[in-house]
Amino acid sequence: MKRRDFLKLSTAVAGATLTTYLPSGWRAQAAAKWKVGFSQCTTLEPWRVQFNKEIETEAKKHPEVDLIITDGLDKTEKQVADCDNLIVQQVNVLLISPKESAGLTGVVDKAIDAKIPVIVLDRNVETKRITQFIGGDNKLIGRSAGEYAVKLLGGPGKAQGNVVEIWGGMGTQPAHDRHDGFHEFTDKEPGVKMLLNNQSGDWKQDQAYNIMTTALRNNEKIDLVYGHNDPMAYGAYLAAKDAGREKDIKFFLGIDGLPDEGVEWVNKGLLTATFLYPTPGAEGLRQAIKLLNGEKIPPVITLPTKLITKENAPEILKANGLL
Ligand code: FRU
Repeated sequence: MKRRDFLKLSTAVAGATLTTYLPSGWRAQAAAKWKVGFSQCTTLEPWRVQFNKEIETEAKKHPEVDLIITDGLDKTEKQVADCDNLIVQQVNVLLISPKESAGLTGVVDKAIDAKIPVIVLDRNVETKRITQFIGGDNKLIGRSAGEYAVKLLGGPGKAQGNVVEIWGGMGTQPAHDRHDGFHEFTDKEPGVKMLLNNQSGDWKQDQAYNIMTTALRNNEKIDLVYGHNDPMAYGAYLAAKDAGREKDIKFFLGIDGLPDEGVEWVNKGLLTATFLYPTPGAEGLRQAIKLLNGEKIPPVITLPTKLITKENAPEILKANGLL
């Protein structure tokens, strides 16, 4: 892999001035077996399925860990109930990847009050009492996508084009960061016009398909689509294809870079590019174990990203046995 492809190469510890929060009175204690609870928000999306696979694979390397995974079925209330249940089971540590920030904050606070340290993965919650956050740098990814979009549309100061942006879940920080970062670049371009007014596909391919179908009906010229994840960028591509307009739309950008999805679509030329968004599954479990063993863990771990285009897609597919 080429060095320059990396936007952020190594696992970086952000917020160096922050200290790691632990529930008051909590101390690492030896145990024959650790009970680690992981509340996943949904398994309806391929990235989540991969995430669960990665945490399960890591757990298999640790016979001292009993990993309990719950599935929130893409509903806040179900995920809250799952966490309540894990609290009742007195897990030693709670890992959570929330459906949305506000709705899951209360139950995270409840876990911490019950002296269960909480490690938050990918999407945040609105309390500072968590022990650790692990996820990608969505602002950086948004900026990278924005900078790339400007380049594709003619370069800084000269970019021209009509853009459809399809948001992820409005109640999540990743969607806002992916939007804000992108606009830091595109908003400087007088020739770039955003066609939609903050429309969310809630990370789903079928919802993005519907948004794009309407956008196609209302706009004769669309030059670039920016989906906050690959399934939505691909859903938009399918809508364009079904309308017979996929060739007129020059660029489709997504985020996630799962080998058998985003990377495959980039390799086939259906998407122009995607940005890697690694799952925090394996790292999450490793950090939980460190914590339980009484080791110091940093308050934030930022996972790396990189641009994936037709140039480097084949090598990623090869490395994953897909080519
Ligand atoms: C899966 C997902 C990913 C996306 C992440 C953002 O649920 O939508 O596609 O990158 O969540 O939180």
